[in-house]
Amino acid sequence: MSMITADPQDVPKVEHFAFTPENLEKAKALMANYPPGRQASAVIGVLDVAQRQHGWLPRAAMDEAAKLLDMAPIRVYEIATFYTMFQLKPKGRYLLQVCTTTPCWLRGSDAIMKACEEAVDGKTFSLQEVECLGACVNAPVVQINDDFYEDLDADSMKKVLDAFRRGETPKPGPQVDRQTSAPVGGPTTLKSE
Ligand code: FES
Repeated sequence: MSMITADPQDVPKVEHFAFTPENLEKAKALMANYPPGRQASAVIGVLDVAQRQHGWLPRAAMDEAAKLLDMAPIRVYEIATFYTMFQLKPKGRYLLQVCTTTPCWLRGSDAIMKACEEAVDGKTFSLQEVECLGACVNAPVVQINDDFYEDLDADSMKKVLDAFRRGETPKPGPQVDRQTSAPVGGPTTLKSE
């Protein structure tokens, strides 16, 4: 299985990282949300800007973020290695983040994981097992890049993957007849205007 890990042996060396002028502006705007001296509070947002620029998060980008935020690099590494939103090695075009925490597991995440494992090639699809994505009511859930795909089973998961393979972007959200997180079949309360 191709997992996104922090194993240094898997990580290509990136000697240099610099924010583009546009992304530097974005990072500074995030830092400006916090009082002077508290700019470190913007670290997750700044790392996200760096990752979107580079495609994944090499150590050189973490070091650049640390410099910008006036933080010790180790504190930035701690954050980047804790949150699964940060990929510490190159990934495929679509990152499949499969939730296997209890509600998703009870609702069939084993079958979802199997379908994703079969699709992984490291180029089009990479795979990462993650903890609760916060959408348990629509379990099982897979995050694909920035979107959630919900109420999946093996068949609908394969259909979603096939659509991505064809270059389409399947509709995110529930993959069954469900409006957002309302009961399957339609809302049962708060139905009047
Ligand atoms: S347990 Fe999977 S989204 Fe919460």
